[in-house]
Amino acid sequence: MLDLLVLGGGPAGYLAAERAGHAGLSVVLVEKRAVGGVCLNEGCIPSKTLLHSAKVFEYAAHGEKYGVTAEGVRLDPKAVIDRKNKVVRNLVAGVKSTLKSCHVTVREGQGTILGRAAGGAVRVQVGDEVLEAARLLVATGSEAVVPPIPGVKEGLASGHVLTNREILDLAEIPGSLVVVGGGVIGLEMASYFNSVGSKVTVVEMLDHIAGATDLEISALLQKNYARKGVEFRLGAKVTGVAPGTVSFEADGKAETIPADRVLLSIGRRPVTAGFGLETLGVLVERGRIVTDARGRTNAAGVWATGDVNGQWMLAHAAYRESEVAVSDMLGKKDRVRYAAVPSVIYTNPEVGAVGETEESCREKGIAYRKVVLPMNFSGRYMAENERGDGICKMLFDAAGQRVIGCHVLGSYASEIVMTAAILVETEMRVQDIRELVFPHPSVVEILREAVHQLD
Ligand code: NAI
Repeated sequence: MLDLLVLGGGPAGYLAAERAGHAGLSVVLVEKRAVGGVCLNEGCIPSKTLLHSAKVFEYAAHGEKYGVTAEGVRLDPKAVIDRKNKVVRNLVAGVKSTLKSCHVTVREGQGTILGRAAGGAVRVQVGDEVLEAARLLVATGSEAVVPPIPGVKEGLASGHVLTNREILDLAEIPGSLVVVGGGVIGLEMASYFNSVGSKVTVVEMLDHIAGATDLEISALLQKNYARKGVEFRLGAKVTGVAPGTVSFEADGKAETIPADRVLLSIGRRPVTAGFGLETLGVLVERGRIVTDARGRTNAAGVWATGDVNGQWMLAHAAYRESEVAVSDMLGKKDRVRYAAVPSVIYTNPEVGAVGETEESCREKGIAYRKVVLPMNFSGRYMAENERGDGICKMLFDAAGQRVIGCHVLGSYASEIVMTAAILVETEMRVQDIRELVFPHPSVVEILREAVHQLD
């Protein structure tokens, strides 16, 4: 009888298994595809290695504005993919080794929940073996949404249409790439393929890109990419995909554009079916497992963390949710404070965001004050970004006492946002922030500047 069985070996699953194993519980982690899940194998990490190669290529090919010229610069997509695979291999090996050092047993194969044993333990079949555990953590993650648009299924079968999984293994640069869905995955991949020479068109249903991102920032990001040659078709509804083309309707007009490849990135949905969840009576609403603040489901002894509970669908939120769930299993008080979960879009320039946006403040009726500064207030930003037009927007409560949101477009935004998240999370008083010493010159100094600009 195990103390804990973890179903799914992505960030939510492996972190929970590590923490529980470290705390002395007997743990088995079941993974049907690859330890590390989507994040390590076909998401966060692979996309970042590709995007870094694109950045190196852009610096080399377009360094004139920094006084550097180079000839014959070329990007070898196969070498980029090989390096990505090496990074992934190393990280997956690292996770496996940490699991081992935490005394977690990993079972590779499909896990199927069979129901409960007489004493209430959860029974899970893996291959020929049936495991029994006092507790179950469901961390089965999410999968790409595939809409019932004519031609999409056939396109996926033929390789003309790709999801995040296949595109990260594409060892060729398509002449034209149509990205369906201008959210996080769509924009990061649009960024990569634009840098390496594809003609990229982003087709987005909404009137703006980047989902819930601050609208001023998303407009500026779009402007940056339009300058680099990405075409944006907003308010556009895809009506069909055929070999070599994508059709959509925008402003009441039908259009068909060429597409050597199509990336489908219209969102992801929790994986809740096909592994026996119903045998435990776990409550699933609108496709996601319903959990409380400690990751508990309605079924006794069953927790669900990460994408499968559909709350944030971010690896770092999954980590924290899993820590909290394991604390709960161990009888320790803990909770996730979602108000300060940062998010990043790893385009170039990057977007880093935390807390309230102006739009969310208006929706919730929160009175706020704001400071918006060009990133050029940072000397280092200016030194490193010729004609950079990034901004930092900081939102404060109405009294100007606390930071309630921060949105940055520019280099290092992905790192800067953590400092901002600490300010939001700890509710640090503005007068105390003003006393912090920031390294100079650094781009993160923009936060100090913004706080000083508040009257
Ligand atoms: P998303 O939800 O970020 O964006 C999907 C976009 O597709 C939305 O803007 C939506 O309006 C649009 N859309 C939906 N149906 C459409 C249609 N029929 N035609 C045109 N547009 C349509 O989803 P995405 O980009 O697939 O990412 C999935 C998940 O992965 C997200 O939850 C995201 O948080 C996570 N992720 C996070 C990353 C990061 O933190 N840097 C990187 C990549 C993914």
